[in-house]
Amino acid sequence: MRKSIIAGNWKMYKTINEAIDLANGLKRELFKLNFSSVDVVLCPGYCALSEVAEVLNETDIGLGAQDVYWQDEGAFTGEVSPVMLKDAGCQYVIIGHSERRQFFGETNQTVNKKIRASLKHGLTPIVCVGENLQEREAGQTFNLIKNHLQGSFEGLGAEALLKTVIAYEPVWAIGTGKTATPDEAQEVHQYIRQLLKEMYDEETAGQIRIQYGGSVKPENIAELIGKPDVDGALVGGASLKVDSFSAIVIKASEVVK
Ligand code: PGA
Repeated sequence: MRKSIIAGNWKMYKTINEAIDLANGLKRELFKLNFSSVDVVLCPGYCALSEVAEVLNETDIGLGAQDVYWQDEGAFTGEVSPVMLKDAGCQYVIIGHSERRQFFGETNQTVNKKIRASLKHGLTPIVCVGENLQEREAGQTFNLIKNHLQGSFEGLGAEALLKTVIAYEPVWAIGTGKTATPDEAQEVHQYIRQLLKEMYDEETAGQIRIQYGGSVKPENIAELIGKPDVDGALVGGASLKVDSFSAIVIKASEVVK
C-alpha cells in the first residue's frame, strides 16, 4: 500500500508574512481532520523556510524546498546547500522541476547530483519528470520520460530510489488550467512504474510513490488520485490558498483504493 503524498509548490509567491499566514491557515484547517492517510508537504520559497518550519513544528505537515545545490558549502554565490535546507527545517526538496529545466539550465546530470546530495543529508527528493506540448504532439512522451528517469537516476541503486518521490508533470498542464485527464495521467504513471521495474525490480517499482502535477484542483484531485498508479499530487496555483489546498488534501484523504 502506497501512502498518497500531496505537496504544495508555492513557487516564487508569498512574502515571509504571507507564507506564515498561509501555513497557519492550513495548519488550522488540516488539524481538524484526520488526514493520516495522506502525507502533506509545503514548499515555500527559501526566505520563508525557517518561519514556516516554526509554524509546522509538532504537526505532521512536512516542509520542502524548491531546489538545492549539490555541494555542502563553498564559494557558490546564490546557491543553497542541502545542509542549509536541513538546518532550516526541511525534510523534502523538489528537484528538476520543469521551470528549472526550462529557465535555469537544469539537466539530468545536475538533477542526478542534486538527488545524491539530498539523500546524503537525509532529504527526500521529489524528482520531477515530464514532457512538453511539442514532445507530446510528436508522440515522444514515453521517450522523454525514459530519458528523464534514466538520466536523473543514473548510477543510483534501489535503496536510493526507494527514498525518493517521483512527480510526473506534463509541462503543457502546468499553470495552464489544462489537466491531463485521469486516464492520460494513469497511462504515463503506469509507464513510469513499468520502466522502474525494468531499471530496478518489481518490488521497488511497486513501492515508489508517483505524484501527478499540472493544474490539480479540488475538482479533479479525487479522480486523478483514484487511478491505480497515481499516488498524490504536486500542486502549484491551488496550493497558494488555504481553501483550495485544504480541499485537495481532504478529497485526497477520502479516496480509498
Ligand atoms: P500548477 O503547477 O498546479 O499551477 O499547474 C504545478 C507545478 O508546477 O508543480
